[in-house]
Amino acid sequence: MSKIVVTGKIPNAGLEVLRNAGLDPQAWSQDVAMTREELLKQVQGAEILVTLLTEKVDSELLDAAGSQLKAVCNVAVGYNNIDVAACKARGVTVTNTPGVLTDATADIALALILMVTRRLAEGERVIRSKTPWQWGMHYMLGTGVTNRVLGVVGMGAIGIATARRAKACGMSVVYHSRSEIDSKIASELGAKKVSLDELLSGSDVVSIHCPSNESTHHLIGAPQFKKMKPTAFLVNTARGPIVDEQALVDALKAKEIAGAGLDVFEFEPKINEGLLDREDVVLIPHLGSATTETRDAMAMLAASNAVAIASGKSPLTPVG
Ligand code: DGY
Repeated sequence: MSKIVVTGKIPNAGLEVLRNAGLDPQAWSQDVAMTREELLKQVQGAEILVTLLTEKVDSELLDAAGSQLKAVCNVAVGYNNIDVAACKARGVTVTNTPGVLTDATADIALALILMVTRRLAEGERVIRSKTPWQWGMHYMLGTGVTNRVLGVVGMGAIGIATARRAKACGMSVVYHSRSEIDSKIASELGAKKVSLDELLSGSDVVSIHCPSNESTHHLIGAPQFKKMKPTAFLVNTARGPIVDEQALVDALKAKEIAGAGLDVFEFEPKINEGLLDREDVVLIPHLGSATTETRDAMAMLAASNAVAIASGKSPLTPVG
């Protein structure tokens, strides 16, 4: 029987998929992640690893696992925690969990768009801090999204789902993406493909949905903030390192942009101190896929990939 190591706590729904296939996973059951030292010990002799995005799968870990390792099944759509080239060089298959978290993540992108443009977190802070307030014609005015432009950076499934939600709020959509999108979807959304510079200068909200890799590292940094409208907002539900976080703080301070809504952070879970005391940012702790049903579906898809590989079949959702 294949030795399967589940390196972080995953929902039972995922473990059941493994057990129902006759596999006996060695699964971490604590909410706190394993230390690196423990992780390097636990993976020894594994044929399949089921990993979380908090675990760095690099050459050191692959070596610790051993040459019998066949696959790394990540319980996330993003896989920037995995050195895919190192896996490939060792003949190790990598899988992720696309599709099942699209709607949950797009919901959070829309929530951040509304929160930051309408100053909702700031308003909540007023109430919770018992700060005196009174309704007034000029009190805590925000920016409406109707008839504004959403710029989607990375028009994959989550970018498209966010664009659909924004369209329902009366926004028009431009996007920047490596690949073409289905022409039917483009016309349904009335979405226009533009260069990144055009997107930055023409959007009222810029929402990030591209993968995090070498080519997108600091894709949005000081020069890009200078191209944005001073009234525009940045929203990031993809991965922190796509945005140069210090440049974002500087741009906010210099009023080069109006605000930001962030679900992900460059040095997660560490947050840049310069963001913490700003009223013009909304900060939430990587909640994009955080619904019970989505996390179950992610765990089940990762486990199904592991089952397929253990039984010599092709994985459902391989990376690359
Ligand atoms: C993913 O799957 O990449 C998400 O960020 C997890 O929340």
